[in-house]
Amino acid sequence: MPRIAEHLRGLENPNPFPGLVAFQKRTGYQVQYRLGGNECLDAPLTVLQEHYGEEFCRLARLYGDPGASALRESLGRVHGIDPEHICLDSGADAVIALCLRALCVPGDKVVCTAGTYPTFGYFARAAGCEVIEVDYQRTGHSLSVHLPGLLQEVVRTGARVVYLANPDNPSGSWWLPEVIDEFCRSLPDDCTLLLDEAYLDFCADLQADSGRPLPGCIRIRSLSKAYGLAGLRLGFALADEAFIELLGKVRIHYAVGGLAQHAAQLVLDDPQHGELIRTLNGLLRNSLGERLREVGYRVLPSGTNFVSLLLPSTRAAQHLQEHLLEHHIAVHRPAHPAVDNLIRVTVCEAVLEDELIALFERAIA
Ligand SMILES: Cc1ncc(COP(=O)(O)O)c(C=O)c1O
Repeated sequence: MPRIAEHLRGLENPNPFPGLVAFQKRTGYQVQYRLGGNECLDAPLTVLQEHYGEEFCRLARLYGDPGASALRESLGRVHGIDPEHICLDSGADAVIALCLRALCVPGDKVVCTAGTYPTFGYFARAAGCEVIEVDYQRTGHSLSVHLPGLLQEVVRTGARVVYLANPDNPSGSWWLPEVIDEFCRSLPDDCTLLLDEAYLDFCADLQADSGRPLPGCIRIRSLSKAYGLAGLRLGFALADEAFIELLGKVRIHYAVGGLAQHAAQLVLDDPQHGELIRTLNGLLRNSLGERLREVGYRVLPSGTNFVSLLLPSTRAAQHLQEHLLEHHIAVHRPAHPAVDNLIRVTVCEAVLEDELIALFERAIA
């Protein structure tokens, strides 16, 4: 049983909007005229019609399925996940916020890596939690999440949640599944692991058995990265029934719109879509890493769709960022002082143009 926010324990608060799909499944009725949803069924939506066509307008007029049942089935089929182990929300970010809402109350302690993906700390502070940070483990040219350090702080502080991005942003590093399993098993029963796997699909080492819920853990996935749907806002939690039921108590039922659900299903039902993105990303990531190494940068190993450059100092990273900006190129330099000497570059074809690589080269000369 997950340790949950005190006020949710035993709360009887059935969601008022299970939705028409769930209703049809439960009762066996097939609804032809949906007249109970107070949608504007005859809205002409002329401009949208001209721009996007009738199918878009049909979906735009209607509330989406709050249970996202067809999409959960497709995700389950593609990723080898039991659909009952999936809870959809509008992006991995929203899933992080949802988990904090379900697990924490103000004053709770949570643990993460200093300089990791900042949304976790941002939401945790906004939820009134105290965020305890642990330094990255730095060895030679690599930067990785320090698992013993995280565990030590969880035990020392009695933290309710520990956050781990695997692969990590911004370091790009990852731990193998057996190491994550071991870390998960070593946590106290009353601490939940939020395992952010937004980039998992890009990392060949992490594919095996990735649809399995881990005890005491909520795995978080995104369709923004390896499915190329960042603008549609889709992400999901993968966890055992007890966690999914808990998230169901506090989730925003219409957070994922019908258009986004429909588009995601099309993409998932096309076996080539995801495959193509992953293959292309692998090739471009290797080329980009190689070319930046050739011109003199320290490029961190990456299991993601970005490469991170480790600069000798914050000043050097600032210089590179400003130099590129003068040529209208925006790269990311994390704000956290633990990693503000990193420059993160998104993998894409454009960055491999000779002209752009030359700009990187000039900044280091
Ligand atoms: C580690 C990590 N988690 C989550 C997200 C956000 O994903 P989404 O677009 O699904 O909210 C990102 C985006 O960069 C990320 O790097």
